[in-house]
Amino acid sequence: MPAQLISGTELAASIREQIARRAAELTELGHQPGLAVVLVGEDPASQVYVRNKVAACEKAGFKSIMHRLPANTTQTELLALVNTLNHDDTIHGILVQLPLPSHMDSHSVIEAIAAHKDVDGFHVSNAGLLMTGKPLFRPCTPYGVMKMLELTGINLRGAEAVVIGASNIVGKPQAMLLLQQGATVTLCNSKTKDLKAHCQRADVLVVAVGRPNMVTGDMIKPGAVVIDVGINRLPNGQLCGDVDFESAKAVAGWITPVPGGVGPMTITMLLQNTIEAVERRLS
Ligand code: GUN
Repeated sequence: MPAQLISGTELAASIREQIARRAAELTELGHQPGLAVVLVGEDPASQVYVRNKVAACEKAGFKSIMHRLPANTTQTELLALVNTLNHDDTIHGILVQLPLPSHMDSHSVIEAIAAHKDVDGFHVSNAGLLMTGKPLFRPCTPYGVMKMLELTGINLRGAEAVVIGASNIVGKPQAMLLLQQGATVTLCNSKTKDLKAHCQRADVLVVAVGRPNMVTGDMIKPGAVVIDVGINRLPNGQLCGDVDFESAKAVAGWITPVPGGVGPMTITMLLQNTIEAVERRLS
């Protein structure tokens, strides 16, 4: 039997409805959720991501402020903007889109964002809180993956979870979140020997590498849950994930499509984190 689809589009739509309702209640109380999105330079992919984030905010009834800065903006200028946003009470969340131009130090910029407004969850304080099991903000993509697993009813206790890709944005926080739900986690990276053997053990396989179709059906344990975080554009313009969908679907028990899988959940969890920031300020 082919795998069942986990539709991020459908799950995201239902969560966004709840978020919009909560945003309306908060707005009624005089606390409209506010998100500032900062884009430096002209990276085409970043422009699309940022546009989608701002549109999702507006649709949910948030105040959404977009700051577009030219590629030659100095780091001092960017830090000054972040500082202003840190002190703006109408802004609950600040997102500086990555990657930044090469003359900037992303680490310093992220550290300049007030940790209680760091809705990306990238600040070292938030990474540390996540690591110690007391997260303030969970990074949006791994948070979205966890939500998909929860809503699909996947039991993670004692499950073998394998994460491919050890980035700060996805792989590392994903491993922590799976661990906190009782999974036995293996975090694979580009030096991992015999990746296939690791994958074949996985009850839950999360792939976040950025390489088109690198995980194929023969690498997947029959019945496994396969979560594809990759979004790659092929030379013919088609979008595809890091998992070869057709061969994987024949073996897996559950699988996320690309597009329409993890992508819509990432933006949804950005909205969720912003709501959480408002509620934390009120509590
Ligand atoms: N670039 C790619 N993904 C992300 C993300 O989740 N947040 C930010 N700020 N930049 C990104």
